[in-house]
Amino acid sequence: MAGEIARASTGSPAGAAAFGEVVVISAPWSVLPLALEQAGPLTGKIVIDTTNQFGAPPLPGKSQTAAEFNAARLPGARYTKSFNTLTSGFQALAAGRAGDERVAQWLCGDDPDAKQIVAGLFKDAGFAPVDLGGTAGCAVMEAPRQPGAVYGEEYRLPDAIAVVGALRAGRPIPPTPRYRSSDHPRP
Ligand SMILES: NC(=O)c1ccc[n+]([C@@H]2O[C@H](COP(=O)([O-])OP(=O)(O)OC[C@H]3O[C@@H](n4cnc5c(N)ncnc54)[C@H](OP(=O)(O)O)[C@@H]3O)[C@@H](O)[C@H]2O)c1
Repeated sequence: MAGEIARASTGSPAGAAAFGEVVVISAPWSVLPLALEQAGPLTGKIVIDTTNQFGAPPLPGKSQTAAEFNAARLPGARYTKSFNTLTSGFQALAAGRAGDERVAQWLCGDDPDAKQIVAGLFKDAGFAPVDLGGTAGCAVMEAPRQPGAVYGEEYRLPDAIAVVGALRAGRPIPPTPRYRSSDHPRP
């Protein structure tokens, strides 16, 4: 696979983590302890966590988001969470859409500068970044798919901005939008 991508190469998890300015962590929840051990220290690295909390313990506490939980597992890393709300297949299809059809890519994290860099990567990939704020306030982008959450749903920018506004005002988010292309498998 790496050979099919220009300028890509393969290596060990620790080698990739040491090399990358931005490190994407994308493994099944149950595998995370092993993956983090193999990656080694991520101090100072911008991390994008795509994971969803389906799997074996350790699991977040009742009043804790999965993002908060994982950020604490990555001491010193510049933690962000994203890419977790839509299936990889849908994201591959939707990347690069133009204009009003551009898909929102939700983002949270406690390091504003890291989020700005990640948001730039989203724009390069053809998504509209939407910042939900810190890790403590991002429950709407986390599993499970349910009313009142954005997880598992396609959003475009105006509807995503309405969600952020509702959350900031302490109101329930508006009903899930429906677009002609919304019929896709859920993550
Ligand atoms: N798939 C989706 O549509 C989607 C969408 C949004 C978010 N997510 C979340 O993103 C994360 C990754 O999902 P995924 O579907 O990409 O998972 P996956 O294909 O099952 O696993 C991703 C990679 O993790 C490594 N891995 C898996 N099981 C392992 C094991 N037992 N021991 C060691 N390494 C193992 C493998 O890396 P190597 O190939 O290098 O061995 C594998 O390619 C999950 O937390 C998921 O909830 C998934």
